[in-house]
Amino acid sequence: MKKEFIFIGPPGSGKGTQTKKLSKEFNLPHIDTGSLLREEVASGSENGKLANSYMENGQLVPIELVSTIIKNRLLKEDCNKGFILDGYPRSLEQALALDNILEEIDKNIKSELQVFYFNVSQEKLVERLVNRRSCSKCGAIYNLKTMTLNDKTKCEKCGGELIRREDDTEEVAKKRFETYFKQTEPLVKLYNDRGLLTQLDASLDIDTIYNNLKGAIKENVYS
Ligand code: AP5
Repeated sequence: MKKEFIFIGPPGSGKGTQTKKLSKEFNLPHIDTGSLLREEVASGSENGKLANSYMENGQLVPIELVSTIIKNRLLKEDCNKGFILDGYPRSLEQALALDNILEEIDKNIKSELQVFYFNVSQEKLVERLVNRRSCSKCGAIYNLKTMTLNDKTKCEKCGGELIRREDDTEEVAKKRFETYFKQTEPLVKLYNDRGLLTQLDASLDIDTIYNNLKGAIKENVYS
């Protein structure tokens, strides 16, 4: 059975933190559109420049660009057993585009889709975003408030430099929340109506959320 997971949640709700753990344990590729787009921006390509003009304003990057990136990624061999989508789809339009992509690539394959929604209050989220640091080498995610390292500038896993994302300012975070509530939250109803949605309390601590997440994964998905 091909295992397909989608994670929906506001900025800073912990999608990246949890999906990285799940990806490692389940040995499934973690496909995070935000990181794929940041790589495109760093490459200096025309698509990257276009993406950046939306990302720095907390808006969604145009669907044509995101759909191409996602389809190319899902067609790679490592997705044959399944995948974890973090931050995609992010609008009804993208959800319908994903339906079409999956219909095409899952033809004649038995697959099961589960959607997880991370629910958490906005005050907690702003605090998490302004305190987030990511490793510039391995992408590990830290929270300045809860990390126990003496040197808060270096990654404990690989020694890489810890950096702050350009869109993690209060000003851009506000715009990202507006975009999320207007364009992404309607997906909660869409997937709930389809009977695919599980809601998780994402205000808890990281390990408790991960245990709840694993407990909510349908058993046949392990087979
Ligand atoms: P993206 O990079 O996907 O950002 P996001 O959705 O805003 O989500 P974040 O990565 O900010 O948060 P997260 O939920 O992953 O939280 P994390 O685990 O890091 O997208 C960036 C931009 O790219 C978008 O604004 C858009 O422009 C564009 N884009 C992306 N996808 C697109 C798409 N499909 N279509 C169009 N445009 C797209 O955790 C946050 C912090 O909290 C960390 O410091 C972490 O250590 C800490 N933390 C996590 N969990 C806990 C916990 N339980 N307790 C305490 N601290 C915690």
